[in-house]
Amino acid sequence: MSALASEPRTPDTLLLRNVRPYGEGDPVDVLVRHGVIAEIGAVTADGVETVEGNGAVLLPGFVDLHTHLREPGREDTETVETGSRAAALGGYTAVFAMANTDPVADNAVVVEHVWRRGREVGLVDVHPVGAVTVGLKGEKLAELGTMAKSAANVRVFSDDGHCVHDPLVMRRALEYSKALDVVVAQHAEEPRLTVGAQAHEGEQAARLGLQGWPAAAEESIVARDCLLALHAEARLHVCHVSTTGTADVLKWAKARGTKVSAEVTPHHLLLTDDRLSTYDPVNKVNPPLRTNADVEALRRALAEGVIDCVATDHAPHAVQDKDCEWSAARPGMLGLQTALSVVVEAMVRTGLLDWRGVARVMSERPAEIAGLPDHGRPIEVGEPANLVLVDPDATWTVRGAELASVAGNTPFEGMELPGVVTTTLLRGRVTAGRIPA
Ligand code: DOR
Ligand code: ZN
Repeated sequence: MSALASEPRTPDTLLLRNVRPYGEGDPVDVLVRHGVIAEIGAVTADGVETVEGNGAVLLPGFVDLHTHLREPGREDTETVETGSRAAALGGYTAVFAMANTDPVADNAVVVEHVWRRGREVGLVDVHPVGAVTVGLKGEKLAELGTMAKSAANVRVFSDDGHCVHDPLVMRRALEYSKALDVVVAQHAEEPRLTVGAQAHEGEQAARLGLQGWPAAAEESIVARDCLLALHAEARLHVCHVSTTGTADVLKWAKARGTKVSAEVTPHHLLLTDDRLSTYDPVNKVNPPLRTNADVEALRRALAEGVIDCVATDHAPHAVQDKDCEWSAARPGMLGLQTALSVVVEAMVRTGLLDWRGVARVMSERPAEIAGLPDHGRPIEVGEPANLVLVDPDATWTVRGAELASVAGNTPFEGMELPGVVTTTLLRGRVTAGRIPA
């Protein structure tokens, strides 16, 4: 029996009929054979399993550089399996699982465990992120080389949830990352400026009596790290950019030749701190929701390429950690299944991005940043069939309880959003959507 035949529900050949690559031109058919795009055009193929696209937009499968899968340690909120399912339903074919698990992914054993679970589940390529410092404590560098050379082949390192705030530690991490040809992703937050912080430092926080999280806490670390990366000639990735000032710093650093890339979350592209007046902790997130002016600046920066990509910061939390008073609640919100729709709402409907642009920020750039050779590829004959089909005209109403994640903490609850992922293919296999009979 061949390897393909032994995998259930894996057709050797699959036909996507009437689809529009990048939303451009007249519908075409795309024939996928053995996980690779074999033909594009008017395909005649009898007796082949077929997905009817009805003119849907075909894009390269999305790549999320920033996902919290919570395994090991908090399987009551998410697992590699449930998170992979949410990712596939959201149109993703690869995700990067953050290291702030319990135990922390700061060694080869933990990263290999996460990697192996991802392979067993098989719905999305799960790439573990390794911690930069032992126990995320910011003091001693973790064994980056051992994790990079492990079976998990770690390519991205981050203490996300925490900032690598000691400049000497950060400098060393950048130097090692250069030697290993990997990338350090920084959660930029100067901790001395965010002690007790609960919300964006501004009018809203003042009115509600919440301790402020100043923009400068993010911007000062990003400026510092850009300079460290520039001098070390190392690559730096900035997680969840949330302020106008950070976008300005990135623009300056890129113009100076710094090898810096950056991501923005869907929630920072759509929501503002106006949300806080209800005191509903579903809106609590780190970095916090900012102002309307910040949202507009982030959208512009993403459209112009100052910010490279969208990453979800998918952060599932248990009911008891969200359904409580504001100050006791944990920061974070679900993102995998709503990301595409929020990007359509914030960027496509506003005319800031077309579908090629969506492919760039949700698939091509993140794949490049992480060095994934098989994702974010052009839709061309001979390329791997990591693909997503999106119905651009359909809308859906978000219900946290119906999402695939164990947790249900979505800030988009009850919102009607545009753009529905109808089918996701990982190496030609349907991982979400209707599996053809
Ligand atoms: O809101 C957040 N939640 N921001 C982070 O940096 C960490 C994340 C989490 O792990 O819940
Ligand atoms: Zn973070």
